[in-house]
Amino acid sequence: MADSANSMWGGRFAGGVDAIMEAINASIGFDRRLYAQDIAGSRAHAAMLAARGIISAEDAAAIDQGLTRVAAEIEAGSFPFSPALEDIHMNIEARLKDLIGEPAGRLHTARSRNDQVAVDFRLWVRDQCDAAIDGLTALMRAFLDQAEAGADWPMPGFTHLQTAQPVTWGHHMLAYVEMLSRDRGRFMDARARMNECPLGAAALAGTSFPIDRDMTAAALGFDRPTANSLDSVSDRDFALEFLGAASICAMHLSRFAEELVIWSSAQFRFVRLSDAFSTGSSIMPQKKNPDAAELLRAKLGRIMGAHVALLVVMKGLALTYSKDMQEDKEQVFDAADTLMLGLAAMTGMVRDMAANRDALAAAAGSGFSTATDLADWLVRALGLPFRQAHHVTGTLVRMAEEAGCDLPDLSLVQMQSVHAGITDDVFGVLGVENSLRSRRSYGGTAPERVREQVATWRERLG
Ligand code: ARG
Repeated sequence: MADSANSMWGGRFAGGVDAIMEAINASIGFDRRLYAQDIAGSRAHAAMLAARGIISAEDAAAIDQGLTRVAAEIEAGSFPFSPALEDIHMNIEARLKDLIGEPAGRLHTARSRNDQVAVDFRLWVRDQCDAAIDGLTALMRAFLDQAEAGADWPMPGFTHLQTAQPVTWGHHMLAYVEMLSRDRGRFMDARARMNECPLGAAALAGTSFPIDRDMTAAALGFDRPTANSLDSVSDRDFALEFLGAASICAMHLSRFAEELVIWSSAQFRFVRLSDAFSTGSSIMPQKKNPDAAELLRAKLGRIMGAHVALLVVMKGLALTYSKDMQEDKEQVFDAADTLMLGLAAMTGMVRDMAANRDALAAAAGSGFSTATDLADWLVRALGLPFRQAHHVTGTLVRMAEEAGCDLPDLSLVQMQSVHAGITDDVFGVLGVENSLRSRRSYGGTAPERVREQVATWRERLG
């Protein structure tokens, strides 16, 4: 068997079955990213073991000093990582033994790699929640600045990507502030829920040593220890919740990336992206491509892929730990990296983008965007039922379309030919500015409502 496997897979696994097993088994290539969390967890564990008289104070001190040296070696790039030692936990423990000798062997008392990896990974994901919350806050501020600058700039609002009604630039920007704020809330919720410490669950059943789980939980900044040892080592909900929150956030970022692609096109010209986030074409001199937005739109899909991939890893696993769960990390690492890059790039793009007010205003007034205002006026001024008003307006839109003009360009006589009751007053509601000012319902697009929301968000974001 060994020979045939070797001849099939060839040179890359020239060492035979052992090399193939090492390649599939070793996680050190990626889980070295958990080194700081692993060392923090070990420090807390050793201190607790000494406090409970399970190991001596001298051994705990030796372990602590040794771990400081291990951390320094890793940070200096001189740590001898070994795939034969499988993962970050065994690499660090082996090096600790080289450095301090026998006391190193006492560190793993009342602990298993199962609760060790669970606590390391939770600490790492918790940090990523904090980073996502910070990144989202920065992006919300960027959108808020755009909203404030353009609280009354008219632009077309779309449904079906067809001109629907005029809205304000500020209102559109604030829509993203709302979405991102919900994203932030999801990361906050996930963080609060994951903030329980699995260390001390040991392999799966707890331990016979008189450990103090409250002490390790507090030392690592957790609210409390987890309550069920089986759940503690088999749970990856915290990673899934992170990926779920990240997926929804990625969807929001991707929608804005798509809008940037559309808006920066020659057909729309709604925004100009700075040179920093676009490139020219090597053959077509007129082009300026929104590469960063396109790349984000594509890259963000990886986060959704990671979410599904980890769900699939977990869905077939009987309790408790199975080695399948080692496949959790690469997905989460990649998703977190992509999310942080996405947030940073989007913040840069939003800060850099310049709205083309003339193009926005011209588009806001075209496409019969004030047809609803006309229908509403027929209801208000003439007492028509809305359905009839809708019909009259539709006829007027067709008339304007055939004449090749916009609604305000129709004469009063033309209007009265459709409904005799129409008066001069109608022209007051056909203008874009008027339409915008009139949308004063709470949450509406009127500039005064937008300014209120900007003020509310300024206060909330501090
Ligand atoms: N590298 C492993 C992981 O990431 C650590 C836990 C191993 N536990 C075990 N019983 N083999 O999941």
